[in-house]
Amino acid sequence: MLETVQTTSHDDDILANAMKPANFQKAVNNWVPHDIALKDAWFPLAHSFAVEAKPVRRSVYSQPFYLWRENGVAVASEFHPNDSERSSKSIYSDASGRYPVLERYGYVWGWYGNPANADPVHLPSIPYLPEEGNLPQHMLGTVRFDCCAPLSLENLIDLTHADFLHADVVGDEKMDKEVVEVFHDSETITMVRSCTNKSVAPIMKRFGGVKDDVQQVRQVIRIYLRSHAAIAYGRFSPGDNVQLFHPCVPETRDRTRLDYTMNTSNVKKSNPFRYLMPKASYKVSRQDSYMTSPQSPRYMNPEKRKDLHSPLDEAGQKYRVLMQALAERQAHGDFSYRDNVSADCSDIIGYDGK
Ligand SMILES: [Fe+2]
Repeated sequence: MLETVQTTSHDDDILANAMKPANFQKAVNNWVPHDIALKDAWFPLAHSFAVEAKPVRRSVYSQPFYLWRENGVAVASEFHPNDSERSSKSIYSDASGRYPVLERYGYVWGWYGNPANADPVHLPSIPYLPEEGNLPQHMLGTVRFDCCAPLSLENLIDLTHADFLHADVVGDEKMDKEVVEVFHDSETITMVRSCTNKSVAPIMKRFGGVKDDVQQVRQVIRIYLRSHAAIAYGRFSPGDNVQLFHPCVPETRDRTRLDYTMNTSNVKKSNPFRYLMPKASYKVSRQDSYMTSPQSPRYMNPEKRKDLHSPLDEAGQKYRVLMQALAERQAHGDFSYRDNVSADCSDIIGYDGK
């Protein structure tokens, strides 16, 4: 018992130490995203509609996850049901190769890690997705990045990139005032960006019925570190709120699958934005891929060039440090959750149910 107490206090120090100014920049610069493979997490492996009686194959860090339904209930297994070899030696599944699995928010989630630690309490809170799923398929989509998942998320949480890389969809950098706030605990990081009189997103101007030239914008990116899943929530005035769930499943260490949901149920049925906005992800993800795909392999090859992240990108830097602190804690054998990821985060992201 004494041993456990000592381990806990030592591991608490890992995050506190990494956040100290003397250590922070070193941790930021030591970032090698491919080295980090966190365990004991739920991953949204597939949209619920994609899982039927016939198995589909997914993977987490190259570990196979076959998904199918038995009497309507989703199952996840290391093996295809037709495989003759069924006895598992994997530490991630039970003796018959089955993984812990659950279904929520319109996804089949598989547990990657010690099956004994699987618990629905570790499922991320996504307030604007109905728990039972069932959103129409035009709000769902799938894209892939030839890039490791933490790089995709690091790119996402520095939302200022959108003004430049996605200006043709979400609007340019012109505005009167910008405030960025960053909050974190040991399992999540949340970035809130408030913009005053920002250029209206072209997609809202062309298809969303917004006539003004500027709008007030509040954008939130919240990342569930272990599940590599992000909430991207935007409030636009005038305009409709954007409710995107953006999970980055690490299929391999260098390939990411994004089964996204853009819930546009809040947008009037007569407004084409309701149908077009979810499809914009295909264009936006191509633009992101253009930046992150060449970046990813550079971390695999030693080189003298410096990793020139922006010192103004507090969220991106903290994301790196938090991920490394979790990885270090796991390297010491501590896989526990210190913070509750399934607690309703409506207040944190500024979601009021509309
Ligand atoms: Fe982007």
